[in-house]
Amino acid sequence: MPVPAESTSLLELPGMADDLGRVDDELRRVVASDDPFLTEVARHLIDAGGKRVRPALTITASLATAPEPGPAIQEAVRGGVAVELVHQGSLYHDDVIDGADTRRTVQSVNARFGNLEAILAGDYLLARASEIAADLGTEVAGLLASTIAGLCEGQVRELASNYDVDRTEAAYLESIGGKTAVLLATAARIGGIVADLPRDHVDALTGFGHAYGMAFQVVDDVLDLTATDGQLGKPAGNDLCEGVYTLPVIRTLAGPAGEELRHLLGGPIDEDARDRALAIVRADPSLADSMATAVAYTTEAGDLLDQLPSTPAVATLRQTCDLLLARVDAAAAG
Ligand code: IPE
Ligand code: IPE
Ligand code: MG
Ligand code: MG
Repeated sequence: MPVPAESTSLLELPGMADDLGRVDDELRRVVASDDPFLTEVARHLIDAGGKRVRPALTITASLATAPEPGPAIQEAVRGGVAVELVHQGSLYHDDVIDGADTRRTVQSVNARFGNLEAILAGDYLLARASEIAADLGTEVAGLLASTIAGLCEGQVRELASNYDVDRTEAAYLESIGGKTAVLLATAARIGGIVADLPRDHVDALTGFGHAYGMAFQVVDDVLDLTATDGQLGKPAGNDLCEGVYTLPVIRTLAGPAGEELRHLLGGPIDEDARDRALAIVRADPSLADSMATAVAYTTEAGDLLDQLPSTPAVATLRQTCDLLLARVDAAAAG
């Protein structure tokens, strides 16, 4: 099975590899259950890898004011574990919703163990995340709970727009705000809270996470249209088949090629229709326009960092915006 182009974290602060090793040890420890089968299902995606962007963001945020990056405090590692568990729980459920059979280059949980098992184990991961958040204090616990609610709201909004060729950009942006940006905002915020940073710094980090998260989902949606299964480690082109019309598709539908595309979309499609729809979107300026939107979000994210001191961690947050945008060029280069 090919390894995705970027199996390493998008945030490479010195010492991060050690800290992410601690995150992984803790992830395996906290999902252990008395039931060996549940433990196996719950570990499936942890063992499969992933970029670990959210815990890396929590840890980097916790070091935002440190003149020298040292090992992360244990609360930041635990906070990172909580957000990664929420993320993974949402992926267990998302792959059931999307009918996806691969994730992180391996079989998805639903494909390997079944839909019911994936739903239950996803719930279990969310429950374990809540347990850790409670240990980190009432503010973190409340924040994580409202983040999970936001994720559900974003996913429900997406469902409401399924196969809707008239889906608006505003509806799309509102959905990705909930399903993705809110969790990245929370990942950064928890890092700031547990490190006891000044409130204005915590707020700037939260704003960074949100804007970065918006760019992150736009990039993921562009890659779904331009990259291959092997590059992503998950099915490419799935959004069109599932009726999830993302920013480039919404913009193509509104442009000169819109009429032709509209005839192909609006309901379930076979592989041939999907390939023709993909060809139309790939040839359309809407792809580059969507990347311009991603760039605008990373610019907004970068501007928020101006409110923080110039430290190695903050420099790393700036760099991660460029690394995120570079994922699209890397996929195009093969
Ligand atoms: C996938 O997230 C879901 C989205 C929000 C696009 P990631 O791209 O962070 O997935 P992993 O954790 O690396 O597998
Ligand atoms: C992100 O959306 C899903 C979650 C936030 C759970 P996608 O459906 O685009 O994620 P991938 O592409 O399957 O990772
Ligand atoms: Mg999906
Ligand atoms: Mg996607």
